[in-house]
Amino acid sequence: MPLNDCRLIELPKITDPRGSLTFVEGEFHIPFSIKRVYYLYDVPGGSDRGAHAHKNLHQFVIAMSGSFDIVLDDGSRQRRYHMNRSYYGLYICPMMWRTLDNFSSGGVCMVLASECYDESDYLREYSDFLSVASKK
Ligand code: TYD
Repeated sequence: MPLNDCRLIELPKITDPRGSLTFVEGEFHIPFSIKRVYYLYDVPGGSDRGAHAHKNLHQFVIAMSGSFDIVLDDGSRQRRYHMNRSYYGLYICPMMWRTLDNFSSGGVCMVLASECYDESDYLREYSDFLSVASKK
């Protein structure tokens, strides 16, 4: 899938003097229904996460606290996104190599995913990713 299928999505933000509230509804705000939620936290400075692709998984990534970068790579082009607002998320379509880096201290990355965890959906070697991507 091309890089342009991935995009930042602005979520509703309800602000009042008590604070802000944001919500995400599967198949409405994001183009898939949500089967799994996981989050990355306590990430040491300088650590990279990700560095893999998924064959079929759709994901939506939100910086719940602090900030980090996501680099997407479709096999021919790369784009870097700086994530630092809880009312924005990045939709990542299948067959996109992703790396997360530049985590701030206290950075929390929440991921909404279209499927339960399945190791067989991962492409963990960049050469395997390129070979599958070239056949699409
Ligand atoms: P991985 O997806 O490689 O982490 P990241 O891309 O964020 O660096 O997962 C790290 C480990 O956690 C790996 O052993 C698989 C396991 N894991 C689960 O058991 N369930 C999950 O939902 C996820 C995302 C990972």
